[in-house]
Amino acid sequence: MFVLDALNYASDWLDGSLAFRWSCRMGVCGSCGALVNGTPRLTCAAPIPETGEKVVIEPLHNFPVQKDLVVDIGDFMEKLGRVEPWIIRERERALEEGEYLQKPEQLQRYEQFGACINCMLCYAACPVFAADREFIGPAAAALGYRYNLDSRDEGAKERLDLLTRDAGAFDCTFVGECSTVCPKNVDPALALQRIKIDAALTSLKSITRRGK
Ligand code: FES
Repeated sequence: MFVLDALNYASDWLDGSLAFRWSCRMGVCGSCGALVNGTPRLTCAAPIPETGEKVVIEPLHNFPVQKDLVVDIGDFMEKLGRVEPWIIRERERALEEGEYLQKPEQLQRYEQFGACINCMLCYAACPVFAADREFIGPAAAALGYRYNLDSRDEGAKERLDLLTRDAGAFDCTFVGECSTVCPKNVDPALALQRIKIDAALTSLKSITRRGK
C-alpha cells in the first residue's frame, strides 16, 4: 500500500472533499507530489510502513497551496516555457529532406535530463528557491539544458542567455537536494553547474574574439 492508496481510501470512504492530484499511479505523470514525513516524494511511489507508524502528508513546500495537497504550479509552468525547452533550428528541414538522425552516443548526452517528469519535488527541496521564488529552479534548468545538449538543436546560445539572466543558474549554491529527491534520477544540480561553466566559457570566448 502506498501513500496515494491511503489518500484515495480517505477520499472514497472518509472525506470526499479531500483535494490531491494524481493520474498514472506509476511514477510517470509527476502530478502526485507531496511531502511525506517531511520529504518531497511521489505519493504513488511512497510505501506506507508496515510497522503501522504514523505518516504525515503535507503539500509541497515553496508553492502556494490551493486546497489540501493541491498547489499552484503556474509559476513553474511559466519558468519552464521561459527556457524554451524545444528544438530550435535556424532553418527547419523540409519533410522530404528526411528526419534528423541521431547516434546513440548523441542521445546519451542529454537522456538523463530528458527523464524529468515535472513533478516539482526538486523545487520543494531547493533552499535557494525557498529564499527567492524568482530563481529559475532545478527542473526548468535541467529541461532547458537538455536541449542545449541535443545534436539537433541550434538554439544553445539563446537558451544559455535565458538560463543565466536575472535569477538564473548562477544563483544556485549547489546544495544538491534537488538531485537527491528526484524520483527519476535526473541530476538538476549537475545541469545547473554545467550551465554556469558553459556560460562562463561563452563569455570568455567572446572576450578573446574581441581582443583579436
Ligand atoms: S500518479 Fe503519476 S507520478 Fe504518481
